[in-house]
Amino acid sequence: MARYSRVSDTVGLITLQNPPVNALSAAVRQGIVDTVKTALDDVEVNSVVICGQNGVFCGGADIREFGTPMTGPPLVPMIHAIEAANKPVVAAIEGIALGGGLELALGCHYRIAHSKAKVGLPEVTLGLLPAAGGSQRLPRLTGLPAALDLITTGRHVTAVEALKLSIVDHLTDHNTVDAAVKFAKSVAEQSLDARRISTRPCPCPPDLDALFEAAMQKVRQSARGAIAPVACVQALQAAATLPYARGMEREKELMATLFTSGQARALQYSFFAQRAVARWSIPSGARWDGSKPRPVLKTAVIGLGTMGRGITVSLAQAGLSVVAVEAQEKPLREAKQAISGMLQRGAQRRGVASALDRITYSQKLQALADVDLVIEAVFEDLELKKQLFQQLSAVCKPGAFLCTNTSTLDIDVLASQSRHPELVVGMHFFAPAHVMKLLEVVYGSRSSLETVATAMNLGKKLGKVSVAVGNCRGFVGNRMLKPYMEQGLFLLEEGATPQLVDSVLEEFGFAMGLFRMSDLSGIDVGWRVRKAEGLVQPGTSTRVRNGRRYSPLGDLLYEQGRFGQKTGCGWYRYDNSREARPDSWLYSFLEEYRARHHLAVRRIDGQEVLERCLYTLINEGFRILEEGIAAGPEDVDVIYVFGYGWPKHRGGPMFYASMVGLTKILERLEHYQQAHPDVPYLQPCVLLRRLVDSGSPPVHKWREIIQKTCSHL
Ligand code: COA
Ligand code: NAD
Repeated sequence: MARYSRVSDTVGLITLQNPPVNALSAAVRQGIVDTVKTALDDVEVNSVVICGQNGVFCGGADIREFGTPMTGPPLVPMIHAIEAANKPVVAAIEGIALGGGLELALGCHYRIAHSKAKVGLPEVTLGLLPAAGGSQRLPRLTGLPAALDLITTGRHVTAVEALKLSIVDHLTDHNTVDAAVKFAKSVAEQSLDARRISTRPCPCPPDLDALFEAAMQKVRQSARGAIAPVACVQALQAAATLPYARGMEREKELMATLFTSGQARALQYSFFAQRAVARWSIPSGARWDGSKPRPVLKTAVIGLGTMGRGITVSLAQAGLSVVAVEAQEKPLREAKQAISGMLQRGAQRRGVASALDRITYSQKLQALADVDLVIEAVFEDLELKKQLFQQLSAVCKPGAFLCTNTSTLDIDVLASQSRHPELVVGMHFFAPAHVMKLLEVVYGSRSSLETVATAMNLGKKLGKVSVAVGNCRGFVGNRMLKPYMEQGLFLLEEGATPQLVDSVLEEFGFAMGLFRMSDLSGIDVGWRVRKAEGLVQPGTSTRVRNGRRYSPLGDLLYEQGRFGQKTGCGWYRYDNSREARPDSWLYSFLEEYRARHHLAVRRIDGQEVLERCLYTLINEGFRILEEGIAAGPEDVDVIYVFGYGWPKHRGGPMFYASMVGLTKILERLEHYQQAHPDVPYLQPCVLLRRLVDSGSPPVHKWREIIQKTCSHL
């Protein structure tokens, strides 16, 4: 809806009304068309101001309407009518003007913004392009390089930057609507000829071809198969080379392709999935939402290795005070130096003061007596962590939350060491912890609702995407990674090469294939985990362990001292660089291994690589849902997109499964299971069968079936 009123005698004021962000729903568009007409017909009115209610200009197209038949007036003619108006129209931008919201403002003759407002054209992040003239008007205002940057990244810019880029005309620190009304009155008599952006030429640098070639190369490299950034460049190319009307046609054509693409659906699903996981709940019937987080001001981190350093930086940068603890003097000194460097570099990059003074360092647990929350990140050693939890519950004040960053250990076992197991929770960060967006908040069987709420809230404060998950080996992310990694090894045994497997996965959109990833994170890390599970048998290469088929290839590389990038060789060789090169040693090693075990080499194609790696990972995702370890498919998908490099334009593994078709996934798993009856993880799980039996409903309907399946199990 949009409300019309007359203010200051001669100014028509149009207020968009669609909480929470005044998105341009059919009703809002209709409201704008009607109120603009009223204002233009009103003979007492000399100028018009458009604003949004509740301090928010407009969050753009109403994403909830995507995928439903279009009703109401379209945006493009609506914005053209505003631009063509014979009375000045001023946009009063408070809060945000994003997507269609900014496009609406660009159709106005003037833009006045509050100094704290943000603007942007983020359509690319939803698999689209700014198709209400944004791709044609913005470059006419800012020039091509800035428009390319804003439209292909979708980044939000501050009002101050928007002023520099000429996107807005004036800033105010006071009431924006009052300022806009005053301004509208002052320009009421002025000519509008130069104010209609669509009539301006697009300023082009002389080396236009080089500019677009570089832009295209950049998006192709970073987009990893996403089509929207490429379409954005093409739309800007049209703005630079075609008259405005033809550019608009091109914008429409490109948008039509994007709008019907699976990628846009995946990205829009991902937008809502992120918001759904923030309203966390668990499937066992208990509801976490509604439970209040407790305030956390003073925190502590124990163990300042790879993870502890990143966690400390993340906490300090979020404005929290941190007591950082290392047991020994030398590692403490080294950690202090490293953390200070990370904070200073971060502050420089972000143009803010460094948070160095928020951290105090100590070698003693007694320093933690008054903290509200502790995150331990010491070695992954159960006995060490058990002892630490006993000490912490004696040292910390009653009510302090005790969190562990363990990646594999049982939260309940650690909680049982504390006097207050209800205050214990997992906070599983990902390396590097100050950069990676994902946080798995792992609740144990005795974690209180308040404890989980507090950890989730802290995650939000740190700018993380936090997902509440149940307690099991590997939680959600690492547990699903296991079958994926193992299939890679089995494929090598059967005749594939690391390059084949990685190239297929990278073509799919992963930043890194599984062998390159293993080389980066360290072959020794996986070896330690398998050793703790009792799977490693040094000096042997038997292919059955603990009664189950096993590939010892990773262990054999470890025994050769090939730990990956850190030792210059692993699945690849590195020659003093990060570039992975094929290694003839590895080929001979694989040949010799296959010969020793009488393994027939077959030709393996890309389809098999993709299906076996991804479908086993997806199958494990179904098992996780079946067991209630994750509340819904959105939780699994958000974890994979934000923590494991799953290509965002493919939504996440569970969304991808729904796109491929559950019947197909089931059939292919059955096919591979028949072909390789001893290879683990190929057996389809109950929930997958149940969903197929229920007619493969769309992903947003799965929760219902999951609940029924869980209650039957
Ligand atoms: N259409 C429909 N609903 C929208 C919306 C849009 N364009 N933008 C935000 N919302 C909804 C969210 O779904 C959420 O609803 P919920 O409370 O039911 O979950 C609510 O508004 C608040 O959004 P949220 O993201 O939780 O709040 P925030 O303050 O962190 O961020 C925005 C606000 C506007 C910056 C953020 O929501 C955003 O980036 N929106 C998308 C903007 C966009 O891409 N527009 C172009 C569309 S093509
Ligand atoms: P790390 O070996 O780099 O660091 C561990 C640190 O703990 C060392 O600096 C050590 O000196 C210190 N330490 C050991 N005992 C201590 C004690 N009693 N008191 C104080 N400090 C002590 O290990 P990391 O990779 O940072 O892993 C830490 C934890 O995070 C582990 O539980 C690990 O499973 C988990 N984790 C690691 C990653 C990763 O990618 N490295 C990712 C997620 C979770």
